[in-house]
Amino acid sequence: MRVLVTGARGQVGAELARELAGRTEVLAHDRATLDLAKPGQIAARVREARPDVIVNAAAYTAVDRAETEADAAHAVNAVAPGVLGEEAKRANALLIHFSTDYVFDGTKRTPYLERDPTNPLGVYGRTKLAGEAAIAQSGCRHLILRTSWVYGPHGKNFLLTMLKLAQTRDELRVVDDQRGAPTSSRSLARLVRELLDRNGDTDAVTRAEVDELASRSGLYHATAAGETSWFGFAQAIFAEVARYRRGFRAPRVLAIPTSEYPTPAKRPAYSVLSSAKLREAFGVGIPDWRLGLEESISALPEV
Ligand SMILES: NC(=O)c1ccc[n+]([C@@H]2O[C@H](COP(=O)([O-])OP(=O)(O)OC[C@H]3O[C@@H](n4cnc5c(N)ncnc54)[C@H](OP(=O)(O)O)[C@@H]3O)[C@@H](O)[C@H]2O)c1
Repeated sequence: MRVLVTGARGQVGAELARELAGRTEVLAHDRATLDLAKPGQIAARVREARPDVIVNAAAYTAVDRAETEADAAHAVNAVAPGVLGEEAKRANALLIHFSTDYVFDGTKRTPYLERDPTNPLGVYGRTKLAGEAAIAQSGCRHLILRTSWVYGPHGKNFLLTMLKLAQTRDELRVVDDQRGAPTSSRSLARLVRELLDRNGDTDAVTRAEVDELASRSGLYHATAAGETSWFGFAQAIFAEVARYRRGFRAPRVLAIPTSEYPTPAKRPAYSVLSSAKLREAFGVGIPDWRLGLEESISALPEV
């Protein structure tokens, strides 16, 4: 069993490569060895690797920058997934791809379902939605996992930003009118491993397990359970760090509305996703976001 992972230096890609190692042969590619902006390179890498599974963890994720770099975001988030889909089909491989809660406009007030209408508010969400469509159009066996608010021990994310700011600030103003589900990179990697390791034997992933998974190809929401705001997330981060770090002085966190923190890209006010379809289809899911936070903070080297 061979799994090709793209974006292997990203938050999710790095955790995935680690999580799958030992259970499958992992071919981990970063941008230097597989640049998704180069369709010819995608085809060449997949054809030489002949993988059973492709996990696309690479993406153009700079939500605000995408507003002025639409072409670059489109190439990586919309075109490349389609090429990966075509190559997956050619190789009869299963393509596991990540998408985002930002495909929705946030006007709902109950968790979004897969069949709810999409309406992205910015370039990033639009390009990710186009990537979903390109994969479906390619006709390959695929699982598209829409996730949200990803954070972890490395990379650019809200958890690390809060911890950095806490070193120099006594007070932080954090948006309280955007709601979602913080999802740790580690819990996402574990979810993919659980999906692949359908028999739960935890030894090696087999082709039969992959075929079983592929028989339920489609779009699934895959986020941590529960919900909060960025303000609530910040408060939980500092409360959790205080448990581990003796003498830690948390900054005061003030709740502000989005209107007081303008950003180039508009974000949905509500982007909680229901993962019920995933749970029903495969019997797996990601536990409450607070558990993921606890695990992530306890694993931080400096805590
Ligand atoms: N982060 C979130 O809050 C969030 C929320 C919802 C969904 N998602 C989705 O979850 C998936 C994983 O996201 P993440 O948080 O792990 O993102 P990330 O930490 O930003 O990692 C993305 C990786 O993709 C790589 N990449 C960018 N352009 C590339 C290219 N042209 N060729 C090859 N690699 C390229 C980046 O490499 P460089 O470091 O060289 O740029 C980076 O290592 C993505 O599909 C993302 O859209 C993320």
